[in-house]
Amino acid sequence: MNVFRLRLMAHFLGFGGYVPEQIMTNADWAQLVDTSDEWITQRTGIKQRRFAAPDESTLTLAANASRVTLSDAGLDARDIDEIIVATDTPELYTPDTSALLQEELGCRNIPTYDLGGSGCAGFVQALDVARARIAFEPRKILIVGVELISRMMDWKDRATAVLFGDGAGAVVLGPEGSRARLLDVVSGTEGRYADILTLASGGTRNPFNELTLASGDYNRIVMDGRRVFIEAVRRMSEASAQVLDKIGKKVADVAMVIPHQANLRIIEAVGKKLGLSDDQMYVNVHEYGNTGSATVPFALHEAVQKGLIAKGDLVLLTAFGAGFHWSAAAVQF
Ligand code: UT7
Repeated sequence: MNVFRLRLMAHFLGFGGYVPEQIMTNADWAQLVDTSDEWITQRTGIKQRRFAAPDESTLTLAANASRVTLSDAGLDARDIDEIIVATDTPELYTPDTSALLQEELGCRNIPTYDLGGSGCAGFVQALDVARARIAFEPRKILIVGVELISRMMDWKDRATAVLFGDGAGAVVLGPEGSRARLLDVVSGTEGRYADILTLASGGTRNPFNELTLASGDYNRIVMDGRRVFIEAVRRMSEASAQVLDKIGKKVADVAMVIPHQANLRIIEAVGKKLGLSDDQMYVNVHEYGNTGSATVPFALHEAVQKGLIAKGDLVLLTAFGAGFHWSAAAVQF
């Protein structure tokens, strides 16, 4: 039996994103908790973030980003063969956001699934899954990274609340295209750090009930910021170097890195470790804060829209999140 099959490469057919209109500045946060614009700016680089309006939800953010992406790709929802939604803040626990998105967009009865719980690394991990699906069977996959964190976090906890924002980003990957090729992806997980960054309530270990809700502790994001910081820098820079190695390229070949937007200092440290200049590291964390699995696809959409990426550019995407999970992808424009 011939076990060799044609291995198709994944191409980016469209890019898109959506952020809610409502802006929450550092000064706004300083009215609510004991913090200051100076502290948030110095420690994170964040100046403002967007928060969803009451009539918005994870599904509406995802649908808005998807429609922009489909339009950018020149595709109809009925052209999509599969949907993956990366999110830690789903519309419902069951069914997943991808099923609701399929119906909302008017897709056919295509398979859909969520990649949930991998924190901010979910979208780049989803690229890894999607390229493998495309390699064995040509199909167009809509991949969305979306978070509505403002509705799930503890607004009284200054150590975490000021970091986050809401938003969504998306791409369509397909077997053929002329805009950008997904050359390779490196992903990893180190589950022993699960307790260092977690939202541990609501699952079977800690189900929602009268006691947990009365404790007021049900929406607490537990995070050892310093440990997360150190691991994020290490894993994103190592994974970026590994994916370059896999495709036989050097740092000198890289035009731009689009890293997870959690903290300007993390981004700068990753750039330094890789030997790239600050202006090769794409940054929008000052405008949107940390939008979890939406940061990378939204930043990618923004960089493309602003014309910052030229034909021939090699671009790296890299993300790190709860788990710990991390991924880096190499994209040839
Ligand atoms: O996407 C993955 C998710 N998370 C991350 O990527 C986060 C990674 N970590 C970080 O970005 C940084 O560790 C933080 C921004 C979270 C914190 O910065 P830091 O320089 O590591 O500060 P720290 O945690 O060591 O806290 C320093 C001080 C503490 O006070 P004491 O104990 O030194 O008196 C905090 O209580 O700053 C205090 N603090 C604040 N002060 C004003 C913590 N949050 C705030 C705040 N405003 N919002």
